[in-house]
Amino acid sequence: MSPGQFAIIVPGPTSRHNAYVPTVTLKSSGRQFDAAVDETVLEAAQRAGVALPYSCRGGVCGSCKATLVEGECAYPRNPPVALSAAAQRHHAVLLCQAVPCGDLVIEAREIASVEDIPHRRVEVAVSERRMLAPDVVGVWLVPVDGTRVNWLPGQYLDVILEDGKHRPFSIAGCPRADGAIELHVRHVAGGGFTSWVYESLKVGDRLTIEAPLGTFVPREDSERPILMMAGGTGFAPVKALVEHFLALGTRRPIDIYWGARTAADIYLRDMATQWATDMPTLRFIPVISDAQEAAASGMREGLVHEALLEDHPDLTDFDVYMSGPPAMISAGKGLFLDANLPEERLYFDSFDYAPDVLSAILQGRAGIHGL
Ligand SMILES: Cc1cc2nc3c(=O)[nH]c(=O)nc-3n(C[C@H](O)[C@H](O)[C@H](O)COP(=O)(O)OP(=O)(O)OC[C@H]3O[C@@H](n4cnc5c(N)ncnc54)[C@H](O)[C@@H]3O)c2cc1C
Ligand code: FES
Repeated sequence: MSPGQFAIIVPGPTSRHNAYVPTVTLKSSGRQFDAAVDETVLEAAQRAGVALPYSCRGGVCGSCKATLVEGECAYPRNPPVALSAAAQRHHAVLLCQAVPCGDLVIEAREIASVEDIPHRRVEVAVSERRMLAPDVVGVWLVPVDGTRVNWLPGQYLDVILEDGKHRPFSIAGCPRADGAIELHVRHVAGGGFTSWVYESLKVGDRLTIEAPLGTFVPREDSERPILMMAGGTGFAPVKALVEHFLALGTRRPIDIYWGARTAADIYLRDMATQWATDMPTLRFIPVISDAQEAAASGMREGLVHEALLEDHPDLTDFDVYMSGPPAMISAGKGLFLDANLPEERLYFDSFDYAPDVLSAILQGRAGIHGL
C-alpha cells in the first residue's frame, strides 16, 4: 500500500489481485454490483444504477457514511476526513472515497426514489439572471434542444467547465411546466466559476450541465414533523423540498429555520413568510448572526442551529433536513445527534467546494473548515 492510502481491514478476502473484479454486496437488500479498477464504491454503485447517499464526493461531509461488514478497502484519493477515529474503529467507511481491495459486504442506506431518473449531460441557455442578494445571483436555465430535465426536489446539478471540472449547485425548485431550472449562486471570493457568474454571466449564455445528482430528497415514508434548516444559499434545495411538501398538501408540521449574517441574505423572506401564512402548520424562523442587523430587522439573533435547538431541545420525534455551509452542517450534525435525533433521520447537503478543489486543498494540507 502506497503512502497516503488508508486501509480498513476487517475479516474477509485479502487484498485485491489485478485481474480480480470485486463484488460489493449490500447487506440489507442483498443487491450486488461489481467495482472496476480504482473505482470507488459510490461510483460502482452509480454505474450499476444503485442509489447510495452522497453529497460532496470529496470525503469531507460524511453523508455517504456506511458500515463495512466484511472486506477491505483503501483510500487512494482523499483521506476519510469526515470519519472520526471512533467511527473508523466501528468500521465506518466513506463510500465516495473507499476503493474495494476485494469483495465487500456493506451496510448502507439505499435511496430507491432517485434510481428512476438517470442523470445526463444537457446544454442549457440562461433564460433569466437576477440579483437575489448582494452576493447571490439567481440564474434560470432552459435546455437548448427543448427537451426536459427531470429531477427530485432537493437534488443538484453539476455545471461542467471547459476544462472538464464540475461545480455543483442545488436546484431551487421542483420541475416546472416551462422546463426552467432555478439556481441560487453565491459568489465565492477567489472562486473561478461563481466570480464569472457574478461579474459576467448574461441571458443567452450557454452552459453544459449534468443532472440530476444527489440524494437530498424528500422521504415520504414518514408522518413525523419536519425541521428544515438552511444556511445562506442552502435555502435553494430547502425551497424545492418545501414546495414539494406543500404541493402534496402534507399535514406534517414543518418548521423552516433560515440562517444568514444579514437581513439582505434572507433573500426570499417574503416567499417563506407567505408559506407560513398559507399553511397553519408551517412556521418560518429567519435567524441573523449579526447582532446589529438582527436588531434593525426585528429578526431573531443568533446561530441558526442554536435557534433550532432552543425551540426543539429533544429531536427524538423529528425528521431533519439541512443544507448550507460545511461549518453549519458539521455543527448541526454533532448537536442534533446529541439531542436524540436518530442518524438515519438526518438528511443533509453540505455546500463544500467541488471534489477537485477539495483534493487540492487536502493535498496542500490546508484546513477545510469554514469553506
Ligand atoms: C451538493 C452541493 C450543492 C451545492 N449547492 C450550492 C448552491 O445551491 N448555491 C451555492 O451558492 N453553492 C452551492 N454549493 C457550493 C458551490 O458548489 C461552490 O461554492 C462552488 O463550487 C465554487 O466554485 P468556484 O469555481 O466559484 O470556486 P473554486 O474555483 O472552486 O474555488 C473555491 C475556493 O477555493 C479556493 N481554491 C481553489 N483552488 C484552490 C487550491 N488549489 N488550494 C487552495 N484553495 C483553493 C478559491 O480561492 C476559492 O476561495 C454546493 C455544493 C455542493 C457540494
Ligand atoms: S464524504 Fe462522501 S459524499 Fe461527502
